[in-house]
Amino acid sequence: MPNILAIFGATGQQGGSIVDYVLNDPELSQQYQIRAITRDVNSGKAKKLQDKVEVVHGDVANRSSLETALTGVHTVFIMTAPLLSPDVEYDTVKTIADVALEKDAKYIIFSTLPSVHELSGGKYTKLTLFDIKAKAEQYIRKLPIKSAFCSLGSFMENFETASFLTPRKEEDGTWAVALHVSPNIQWPLVNAVSDTGKFVGAILAEPTKFEGKTLCGATKMYSLSEMLSIMSKATGKDISHKRISPEEFRKRMNLPDAMVDMFMEMLGFLDEPGYFGPEGEKLVTWAANNARGKLTTFEEYLEAHPLRLE
Ligand SMILES: NC(=O)c1ccc[n+]([C@@H]2O[C@H](COP(=O)([O-])OP(=O)(O)OC[C@H]3O[C@@H](n4cnc5c(N)ncnc54)[C@H](OP(=O)(O)O)[C@@H]3O)[C@@H](O)[C@H]2O)c1
Repeated sequence: MPNILAIFGATGQQGGSIVDYVLNDPELSQQYQIRAITRDVNSGKAKKLQDKVEVVHGDVANRSSLETALTGVHTVFIMTAPLLSPDVEYDTVKTIADVALEKDAKYIIFSTLPSVHELSGGKYTKLTLFDIKAKAEQYIRKLPIKSAFCSLGSFMENFETASFLTPRKEEDGTWAVALHVSPNIQWPLVNAVSDTGKFVGAILAEPTKFEGKTLCGATKMYSLSEMLSIMSKATGKDISHKRISPEEFRKRMNLPDAMVDMFMEMLGFLDEPGYFGPEGEKLVTWAANNARGKLTTFEEYLEAHPLRLE
């Protein structure tokens, strides 16, 4: 009998990637039977999933729905949705993990992130979406259940929505990414949709080997200059780095202050100590070497999802 693998966020990028990966892997598809957990079994995405896997209603706002959804499961993949407040995000993870334990699940895989606050020695305080996941990870680590962690780098998918990394046409007609930080900052990039499953799949294939470990999931660390050169090749435009002042960056972002503060801390954090801390390069290389399958390069991603420059 295959073990039941419950996947939270199966209708989203990370969870959907794991569903597809497990279904297409000859070994994992025999070892695991997927149970996709969704708040709405009637949504368009949930209905599409029903053609492939078992889809079960589960909503953190309704604990008894989780108790039903996690009955009989062996392994639980937990991720949290964006835009939850830090306290809600922590409670979400805690509730799912507690119910998994009560229901006698054997293994939790949690999509975590590093604690920016800790890694920066308390310098950065606004990247709560990182810190709260790190805190939730610590909660899971203390539970009497086996666990492993996947800490994903920055999603290549972010380039599909306008971001501070989207090249813009300057007044002199040149294309640039204007930032107040050096072009040497390092970005761990990951194609969340196609590659999350390759990291989590590694854990599913060898749960004992990865117990207690964190896979810092990214194809590799890309410097900003390298990314700009890849974007230039992909678009046929010469895209350069333009160094601007923090005040100018703030003005150009034209977003609510709280969001700009967060982006500015993110850039500062990438600069020092780095997304995964001072050992980031080593951690990313280790995870990439252990991933189950070839990871998508930034070049390949842009080929499949061309950058639209306006
Ligand atoms: N963007 C990045 O560069 C980056 C990097 C590292 C980590 N992350 C983290 O990745 C997470 C997002 O992952 P993703 O892109 O896979 O998410 P996503 O595609 O937006 O999917 C979110 C999933 O969460 C489920 N969900 C459960 N409760 C929810 C709620 N209250 N509100 C909205 N959705 C809810 C949804 O399922 P149902 O609707 O079916 O219930 C959906 O499948 C965030 O926590 C973010 O911090 C992002």
